[in-house]
Amino acid sequence: MKLMVTGGAGFIGSNFVRYVLDTHTDVHVVNFDALTYAGNLENLAGLEEDSRYAFVRGDISNPDDVQAVFAQYGFDAVLNFAAESHVDRSLHFGAQAFIQTNVLGTQLLLDAARKHDVPRFVQISTDEVYGSLGDDGRFSEATPMGPNNPYSATKAGADFLVRAAEHSHGLDAVITRCSNNYGPYQFPEKLIPLMIANALEGKPLPVYGDGMHVRDWIFVLDHCEAIDTVLRKGVKGEVYNIGSMYDVPNIEIVKLILKHLDKPESLITYVKDRPGHDRRYAMDNTKIRTELGWEPKYTFEQGLKTTIDWYLANGPWLEHVRSGRYLQYYEKLYGDR
Ligand code: NAD
Ligand code: TYD
Repeated sequence: MKLMVTGGAGFIGSNFVRYVLDTHTDVHVVNFDALTYAGNLENLAGLEEDSRYAFVRGDISNPDDVQAVFAQYGFDAVLNFAAESHVDRSLHFGAQAFIQTNVLGTQLLLDAARKHDVPRFVQISTDEVYGSLGDDGRFSEATPMGPNNPYSATKAGADFLVRAAEHSHGLDAVITRCSNNYGPYQFPEKLIPLMIANALEGKPLPVYGDGMHVRDWIFVLDHCEAIDTVLRKGVKGEVYNIGSMYDVPNIEIVKLILKHLDKPESLITYVKDRPGHDRRYAMDNTKIRTELGWEPKYTFEQGLKTTIDWYLANGPWLEHVRSGRYLQYYEKLYGDR
C-alpha cells in the first residue's frame, strides 16, 4: 500500500509516518511537505535509510508540485495533514496563508486524486470546525459547522470541498475531525509544548484570559491509530470524530505540567485573552468506537508523562526549534500582552 502523507514533517504527520511504518510492514510512505516554519525533518530522523519511506519537498497549493508527485507515484491513498494549523497565527498574522494551504491546497489534492483515480482520500480535520460549546454537550458528527476563527474557517472550507468532491464527483473520501493533540515533536507554539518549554527555562507561563477554556486532549499516537483505522475501515463519504473525552480547563493542564516538572505555580501569568476565544470543545467519539472499533489507549496521565519525558530527553530538538525566527514570533505574539 503506497500512501501519500502531506504535512508529514509536522507534528501529527511525522508521528503518523513513524506509526504507520512501524505498524504495517507492507506500507510505503511518500511524505510531501513544503517545510514551512512548522515542518522539520528532524522529526523524521532515522527514517532516511528506510526503503519504504521517501520525502518530496513540495507545496500542496502549487499545481506543478502536486502534478509532479502524482505523476511520479501511484498512490493507494492520500492522507492530507498539511495545513497552517495555529489559531493565534491566523488571528495575528493574517488568514492568507491559511486560505492558500488549507483551502486551495486541499482542492488541488482533491483534483489530483480524482485525475489519478486514487482509491481513498483522508482529510485530517479538526473539532474546531464545529465552533464553541456552552457548559454542556459534546460535538457529534451531526453538529452543524460553526467555525469562529480564520484557522477553523479554512479547515471547515476544506471539509466542504472534500464533501463536494465525494458527493458530486464520487471521490472515495472520508473526513476525520480530532480534538486537541499533544505528544512528542509538537511545535512549541501550542499550549502543552509551550508550557513545558517555558517551565523548563523558568519563564512565565502565559495563560489566556481566565484559564477556564476547555479543550478535549488526546495523545497523538491515539489519533494516529484512529486515522489508520479510518483509512482502512472508514465508509466513503463519512465523517468520524476522534477524541479521548478528557476535557479539562487549560489552567488544570498548566498546573499538571508544573507539578510533573516540580516547578512553582508562581510561573503562571494570566495574559490578555485570545480574541473570539472558543470557550469549550468536547468530542463525542461514539461513532468511531462503535462502528470502527477504535478506542483511545493512553490516559492523560500516561500521555502527559510520555510527552514531558520526551521533551526532557530531546533538549537539542527543542533548542533548534526555539531559536531564530521562533524568538521573533514569540516577541510579536506575547511581547505586549
Ligand atoms: P503542524 O503545523 O505541526 O504541521 C503542518 C505541516 O504541514 C508542516 O510540516 C508544514 O511544513 C506542512 N505544510 C504547511 N503548508 C504546506 C503546504 N502548502 N504544502 C505542503 N506542506 C505544508 O500541524 P499538526 O498539528 O501536525 O496538524 C496536522 C493536521 O492535523 C492539520 O491539518 C490540522 O488542522 C489537523 N489537526 C491538528 C490538531 C492539533 O491539535 N494539532 C487537532 C486536530 C486536527
Ligand atoms: P492551542 O494549543 O493553541 O490550541 P487550540 O487553540 O487550537 O485549541 O491552545 C489550546 C488552549 O490553550 C486554547 O484555549 C488557548 C490556550 N492557550 C493559552 O492559554 N496560552 C498560550 O500561550 C497558548 C498557545 C494557548
